[in-house]
This record gives sequence, structure tokens and C-alpha cells, in this order.
Amino acid sequence: MNLFGLTLTLAISAALICTTEAMWWFLGAAYGTAQEPVEIPCKGIPNISGKQVRFCLKNQDKMPTVAEGAYHGIEECQFQFRGRRWNCTTIDGDQSVFGRVLDRASRETAFVNAILAAGVTHAVTRACSRGDYLECGCDRTHRGPPGGRIGIVPNSTWRWGGCSEEVWYSMELTKDFLKPTAAKRARTKMDRHNTDAGRNAVLHNMELRCKCHGVSGSCELKTCWWEMAPFRKLGDALKTKYDMAAEMAVERQRKGRIFVEELAPRYDDFKEPTTNDLIYYDQSPDYCTFDPEVGSFGTQGRECNRTSHGIDGCELLCCGRGHNTMTVVRRERCDCVFVWCCKVVCKECVRVIDVHTCK
Ligand SMILES: *[C@@H]1O[C@H](CO)[C@@H](O)[C@H](O)[C@H]1NC(C)=O
Ligand SMILES: *[C@@H]1O[C@H](CO)[C@@H](O)[C@H](O)[C@H]1NC(C)=O
Ligand SMILES: *[C@@H]1O[C@H](CO)[C@@H](O)[C@H](O)[C@H]1NC(C)=O
Ligand SMILES: *[C@@H]1O[C@H](CO)[C@@H](O)[C@H](O)[C@H]1NC(C)=O
Repeated sequence: MNLFGLTLTLAISAALICTTEAMWWFLGAAYGTAQEPVEIPCKGIPNISGKQVRFCLKNQDKMPTVAEGAYHGIEECQFQFRGRRWNCTTIDGDQSVFGRVLDRASRETAFVNAILAAGVTHAVTRACSRGDYLECGCDRTHRGPPGGRIGIVPNSTWRWGGCSEEVWYSMELTKDFLKPTAAKRARTKMDRHNTDAGRNAVLHNMELRCKCHGVSGSCELKTCWWEMAPFRKLGDALKTKYDMAAEMAVERQRKGRIFVEELAPRYDDFKEPTTNDLIYYDQSPDYCTFDPEVGSFGTQGRECNRTSHGIDGCELLCCGRGHNTMTVVRRERCDCVFVWCCKVVCKECVRVIDVHTCK
């Protein structure tokens, strides 16, 4: 695939959007267009920082995996926010830009940074376990918990065995690539915090996987190892963090001759967020009307669910503007059977359904 051709077309729109976003967009698109790892031209990545170019050149072999992680992060974001007013999309409805939503220090930005960080950490760790790189692998001698999981010790029913996935390598490696530098400013502090929360989510959700041994599956003894949770589970966990994200206030403090911005919980009676929580300090727009300046595409024309009282229901999704109903004919594959050997044969079913869209 000609990535440099892609660079040209992407660069035009990249000028419209903010720094890191263009980079993630590019990386995600690079993997998404090919649907397989592709070589990444370090200097062709739009709006990449000097530090990131150096990382890229030094870790050329890992960049296809970083891009794959970015792609899965964006994809998961779109899954978690499907049916909501802000749905993690994109001007053309493709896997691409977040619009200007990342310009604001909002909850949505917090989630995007966390899920991208989790995506990259997850992808690199998985590649290590597969044996893709010389520098990392999985750990056959691992004993004891991965970060934060205390009290899991073998007992009479199982012992350590197999190969535990090692998140530390990936977390260390990607730290420099993911985290913005110069933490003087509130926004940088927020991005660093949420990026860490995303990386931590991978570590804290590790699962103990076991395999049975013994005559004909009697499971007399199990051997167990650590494995990363499926990415969907990390998406769910971070979505919960999004729902409970801590609202912060920016405080300017004098440090010697300069002012630095610090973040503190906005409300006194709220606990200080932990390194696993998401934080933000700008209110989100309501995402009801089209306003590209704030990254809102509006919900006009969006399909809504007439019977749902949730956020995907017509009332909330359409922001009280009401909805139109149209009867449409949809053709779908149905009654599929497996025919020996080896194909799947389906009937075509015609369904007549009412589609509701926001006014
Ligand atoms: C991002 O890159 C585009 C071209 O690739 C450039 O026009 C734009 O000024 C850059 N924006 C920032 C904030 O660096
Ligand atoms: C997400 O929102 C955009 C803009 O409102 C819309 O065009 C797109 O169809 C939505 N995607 C999904 C999967 O609902
Ligand atoms: C053995 O350890 C596993 C995993 O920690 C636990 O789920 C199980 O209940 C323990 N079994 C006994 C008999 O203690
Ligand atoms: C609409 O919402 C109802 C109630 O929440 C749910 O049972 C149904 O599956 C939804 N339909 C679609 C198409 O999502």
C-alpha cells in the first residue's frame, strides 16, 4: 500500500485539527486501510513531535503495532459510544477524525486518550507474547501477581505454568511515545494522567488463565498464567471510568519565577482521583447541534430507538426536537446453514421496518 499517497490526502484535513489527533488519525488509518500491519513512515506522520519522531525511528519495527493499537482504540471508542450523541466519529463516518472534540479538555477527550493508550499498550504486549520482537516475550517463570493484584497464590488446585504476558515492557516502551512532555500546563497534565489511566487499565485487568491437566480432562491439576483481558473488557472498564470521571479545576500557582498550572478536584468533598481514574476540566457541549468548532456533529438525521428511554432513545438523542419515521425494506442474510464441506448458505430475508431519525 502506498502510504505516502495517503499522507498527501490526509495532510490537507490534518491542518484543520489539533496536533496529537492528526497523528492518531494517521496511524489508525494506516492500519485500518490495509487491515494488516503496515510500515509507518516516521517523518510522514502529520503533526508528530520531535520526541515522537525519534521514538519512531528508533522503534521502526514496532510502529506497525503502535498503529494497530491506535486503530483498535478508535474502533473500541466507536463501539462504546455507539448510539450516543457523541459517538466517537468522524466527519465522513469512517474510522478517522474525532473532529475538534480533542481541543477541549472534556470527558470525551479524557476517554479518547485513555483508550488510545490502552490500545497501544495492549497491541505491543500481544506482539511481544507472539514473539514478534527480540526485546520482549512472555514470561515462563512468572510467579505472583501483576501490578496491584495481591493475594493470588497457588493452592492445592493449581500451580504456575505456561507463559504470562508482560505488560511492563510495553508500558515502559510506549511511555515516551504516548505522554506529552512539559507538564507545566493543565492540559498536558490532564493528558498525561488519562494516558496513564489507560495504560494502567491494561495492567489492572490482567486475568488468570488456566489449563486443565489429568486423565481425560479430569482437571486434577491446573496450570495458570496471566493474560491480558480481551480489549472489549478494557473498553468497558474505561467507559465506566468515563462515567465516573473526576471534574477538576485549574489553579495557577507560582513556582519561583514562573507560574504553573495545577489540577485539583473541583468540589471539596470529592476525593482526589487515583492514577486509574479519568479526569477533565472543561464541560462538554451537549452535542445536539452541528458545531464543528467544538467537535459536535449534531444529531440531525441520526437513527434513534423509539422504544428506548436511554441515551439512544429518540427523546434524548434528538434533544427533544422530535423524529421522523420512515418505512424501509431491509434485505438480510438469514437461516444460514453450514454445507459440508465447506460453505455457508443463507437465505435472503426481507424485513420491512420502521426507521426513526432525528429531526
Ligand atoms: C499539523 O500538520 C499540518 C500539515 O501536516 C500543518 O499544516 C499544521 O500547521 C500542523 N499543526 C500543528 C498544530 O502543528
Ligand atoms: C455517528 O454520528 C455521526 C454524526 O452525527 C453519524 O453520521 C454516524 O452515522 C454515527 N455513527 C453511528 C454508528 O451511529
Ligand atoms: C485456589 O486459588 C484460586 C485462584 O486464586 C481460587 O479461585 C480458588 O478458590 C482456590 N481454591 C481453594 C481450594 O483454595
Ligand atoms: C431499542 O430499545 C429497546 C429497549 O431498550 C431494546 O429492547 C431494543 O433492542 C432496541 N432496538 C434496537 C434496534 O437497538
